[in-house]
Amino acid sequence: MKIVQYPHPSLRHKAKDLTAIDDTLRHHAREMLELMYEHKGLGLAAPQVALPYRLLVMNFAGDPEKKEQECIAINPVIIERKGGMVESSEGCLSFPGLYQNVRRHKTVIVRAYDLDGKLYEMTASDLPARIWQHEVDHLDGVLYIDKMGIVGKMSARGALKEFEDIYHKAQERGEIAANEEIERMLKELEEKA
Ligand code: CO
Repeated sequence: MKIVQYPHPSLRHKAKDLTAIDDTLRHHAREMLELMYEHKGLGLAAPQVALPYRLLVMNFAGDPEKKEQECIAINPVIIERKGGMVESSEGCLSFPGLYQNVRRHKTVIVRAYDLDGKLYEMTASDLPARIWQHEVDHLDGVLYIDKMGIVGKMSARGALKEFEDIYHKAQERGEIAANEEIERMLKELEEKA
């Protein structure tokens, strides 16, 4: 398992609801947590590891020692957004090094299943709310570059062009599969959800 970078098609692919919690899923969640910590992230969504499933892992403190800050979400839904909008700097493990301001709701109420299949509800504010919104967006193929303001979008243009060039060169060298092949693999994985 590895983190895919923009413009990998998995990042734009709408993820599918999970219908069962089994050992494969538990294994995926554990591997995603390890990758997230390795890359010093606060959250990671399954589409970022080319799995088209509605699964997120997060640690609101970004600290592997703080297990109480760790959160796994299966089929998460934001059921309420409130408290107005807050603008703050945001990054994404699929866009290493690119930070821009993004406006997010200050508070969200979310509902998700944990790895034991238990439904839970959580009210999150500030940074945890930002992480939830960023990660749930990933499941719908929505990226933080879509939510940057005009100025942020303009200053990100060079970096995005560079990500695209690197990606296409890696594809030309055969290090990354062709987009049609990736789409085919995603469809195949979806059927296992
Ligand atoms: Co992200």
